[in-house]
Amino acid sequence: MDSKLQPIGVFDSGYGGLTILKEFLNDLPEYDFIYLGDNARAPYGSRSFEVVYEYTLQAVTKLFEMGCSLVILACNTASAKALRNIQQNDLPHIDPDRRVLGVIRPAVEAIRDFTRNGHVGIFGTTGTVLSNSYPIELEKWGGGVVVRTTQEACPIWVPLVENNEISSPGTEYFVSKNVQNLLAADPEIDSIILGCTHYPLLLPVIRKFVPENIKLLEQGKVVSSKLIEYLNRHPEMDQKCSKHGTVRYYTTENIDVFEKNATTFLGHSIKSEKILLK
Ligand code: DGL
Repeated sequence: MDSKLQPIGVFDSGYGGLTILKEFLNDLPEYDFIYLGDNARAPYGSRSFEVVYEYTLQAVTKLFEMGCSLVILACNTASAKALRNIQQNDLPHIDPDRRVLGVIRPAVEAIRDFTRNGHVGIFGTTGTVLSNSYPIELEKWGGGVVVRTTQEACPIWVPLVENNEISSPGTEYFVSKNVQNLLAADPEIDSIILGCTHYPLLLPVIRKFVPENIKLLEQGKVVSSKLIEYLNRHPEMDQKCSKHGTVRYYTTENIDVFEKNATTFLGHSIKSEKILLK
């Protein structure tokens, strides 16, 4: 890697973080980025706290070694299970001047403007749902607007995306089942957070089963605008981020499969390199 490059690192268990990166590339085209997908070990959603933390720390450490001063965990599961530990316990030892940010808080802040009646639904991985991060953060940052949060774990959705089964009849079955469960648990829900960065890739199927009057919040745009705000508030970090408009893609799995699927998701072709995390 060119030593002058200090890219912004974007990490996800697999392809989901591409839905966040896509918005970064749109909004901050002059910045350099590295995308790292741990496809070999995805999904993270059903893994324990210890394992998600261990894998996420490995990825963050690798991105730091590659020159990133700022890393975005473009993964709700990693944000829910590893972010706080990394920020509070690891960063002070590794390098107190580097930063790791997550994707849950931006979604929580954005939902305040989305909901009209305060009944909010969350679709997430089993790990994100069990962590209770969304209800806890909504209580803290929901501005008193959110009166009821209802969560639905969708453990099959990420494997469907990772296997590029985004429009098969089997996918429709699982999506409709989870949508029905959520809306039965609180029929007054008027807005739903897609609390997993893989889920926007299933949006056409999700929309088929979620009535039009219910708003769906995708994280890409809100996370991207929060990153812009963050860089404006922290010029010392902004100055560290190099700006040559480059993007590098790394995967822990087969690069041919990654490139084929990432090209479909991003809408333009990419080249990737294989990387080992340990
Ligand atoms: N994109 C990750 C998230 O936002 C997927 C987690 C998984 O690998 O299960 O939660």
